[in-house]
Amino acid sequence: MLIVLEGIDGCGKSTQVSLLVDKLKSIGMDALELREPTDGPHGLRLRSILNEEIQAENDEILDLFVKDRKQHVSEKIEPALNNGKTIVMDRYYYSTMAYQSASGFSMEKIRADNSFAPVPTLVLILDISAEDGVKRVLKGGNADRFEKEDFLNRVREQYLKLKNEPNVEIIDASLEVQEVHTNIWAFVENLMES
Ligand code: TYD
Repeated sequence: MLIVLEGIDGCGKSTQVSLLVDKLKSIGMDALELREPTDGPHGLRLRSILNEEIQAENDEILDLFVKDRKQHVSEKIEPALNNGKTIVMDRYYYSTMAYQSASGFSMEKIRADNSFAPVPTLVLILDISAEDGVKRVLKGGNADRFEKEDFLNRVREQYLKLKNEPNVEIIDASLEVQEVHTNIWAFVENLMES
């Protein structure tokens, strides 16, 4: 199984990824947690760009996300799937479809660039308002706040457009952590029964 958690910054995805991995392990599943961007060379360059340590054009950023994912698929994702592991991913190509389309690329181009990537068994988009996302990410009166909220609003709209893609479900992430986890688990249990 390849399970992917997605959502805008501040949606609580990383917390939910670890809760889900722990739950899978507790019932004896061989679960592996993976994240994108990775710790590989392209992922590290992306993190420096995202932290604003270095600057880059949007074309290079998209290219780096795709290269990072190609390496991830061939070195980690495919081998783990072939070994019967259950992978829980913190972001995958749906992030590129939402974030990079919000920064101007067409969904179709992004989809085509990512066609090498195995389609997940389940994708859960943790949905939260941009206002709440920004509140969780930025503390206090940060100058970037309005710019960030406006961008995340566009990213959220792009995510919601993905609801009719195969295996995609939208989850209300404004609820309490345990409640969100219970709702995620219901989808995963359903998947294991089918
Ligand atoms: P994330 O790991 O969720 O952030 P953090 O390091 O704070 O836990 O993701 C880093 C950022 O990268 C996030 O703002 C979303 C962005 N991103 C894209 O724009 N496109 C992508 O394809 C991916 C994987 C991430």
